[in-house]
Amino acid sequence: MKIGMLTSGGDCPGLNAVMRAFAKYAFSHIADVKIFGFLNGYTGLIENEYEELEEKDFENLLLAGGTMLGSKRQPFKLMTETDGNNRSKLDKMKETYKNLGLDCLITLGGAGTHKTAALLSAEGCNVIGLPKTIDNDIWGTDVTFGFETAMETATLCIDKMHSTASSHGRIMLVEVMGNKVGWLTLYAGLAGGADMILIPEIPYDEDAVVEFLEKRRKAGARYSIVAIAEGAMSKEEAALRKKERLALRAARGETTVTQRLARNIEARTGVETRTQVIGYLQRGGSPNPYDRALCTLMGSYAGELAEKGKFGVTVAYSGGRVTYNSLSDIAGKAKSVPPTHPMVRAAKSIGISFGVF
Ligand code: F6P
Repeated sequence: MKIGMLTSGGDCPGLNAVMRAFAKYAFSHIADVKIFGFLNGYTGLIENEYEELEEKDFENLLLAGGTMLGSKRQPFKLMTETDGNNRSKLDKMKETYKNLGLDCLITLGGAGTHKTAALLSAEGCNVIGLPKTIDNDIWGTDVTFGFETAMETATLCIDKMHSTASSHGRIMLVEVMGNKVGWLTLYAGLAGGADMILIPEIPYDEDAVVEFLEKRRKAGARYSIVAIAEGAMSKEEAALRKKERLALRAARGETTVTQRLARNIEARTGVETRTQVIGYLQRGGSPNPYDRALCTLMGSYAGELAEKGKFGVTVAYSGGRVTYNSLSDIAGKAKSVPPTHPMVRAAKSIGISFGVF
């Protein structure tokens, strides 16, 4: 069996661990297996850049951060655009798949990767997806690999904010990754003891933010910690169309609202307010023990699916068991935080604010 493999989109801890588990399963259960690793995500498949990987190439990968294959973003909307020779990236990928005589392609990636995987599958390639992302926003799976480790990193960062915020009696806004969804901010905010959690799914009201922080101050709190998602937005911004919102932010020279909100809070409360962007630290390093176990489960299961010839699917972990969903069912959907999610309700029940009245 000839198997292609690639890692696409933003990296996360656990990519190597999943590939290791898949390969260990494949080399021991599937006859005459050959694995070809495409370099830098779909780019390798488009440009016909790959390496044949042997069993030994998958050794010592369980703890290794990043991806040994390299990763790159290849926007889905450009996949069918044709070049001067009237060929699209999709055409080129199908050509590589066919010329190499692949029996299947394993794609490790997030929402965008899954859209392209579904397209390749609809075009006749045998694809098995694996749900990677620190954002935890893949439809149909309770958890994605990389999320837990990123949560741990973000939590450690929020933990460390408490002492310095307390020393100076400041308000600290800690920006957590998650442009479209707030899972990481919600969980790390809860785990790190944030006083306020601002996520894209619950647009904040600046008056409510200020009132809450002032109330805490008056009640004797020396400092406050706000966990704010990259994609957090005010209720005014939420009323705009996405295009208008992005244009407004571009005109203001900002990609996230964090700095502006901090300035406004300081101006309105008179309390020194600082920001901390955690950024790519959340995507770096070794997967934590939970992710290592999850990666082993998901990677070996993808091997089992390949062995059985079950294609056009992506691996999921749902209701305590490993399973799969059809790529066509999940592509283009995002799993966002329901404002009535039990974690949101629990947070509210102990006095954590979401920046709304
Ligand atoms: O999808 C993962 C993620 O880390 C998001 O949380 C973040 O908004 C985005 O990737 C950053 O992407 P890039 O690597 O292109 O800067």
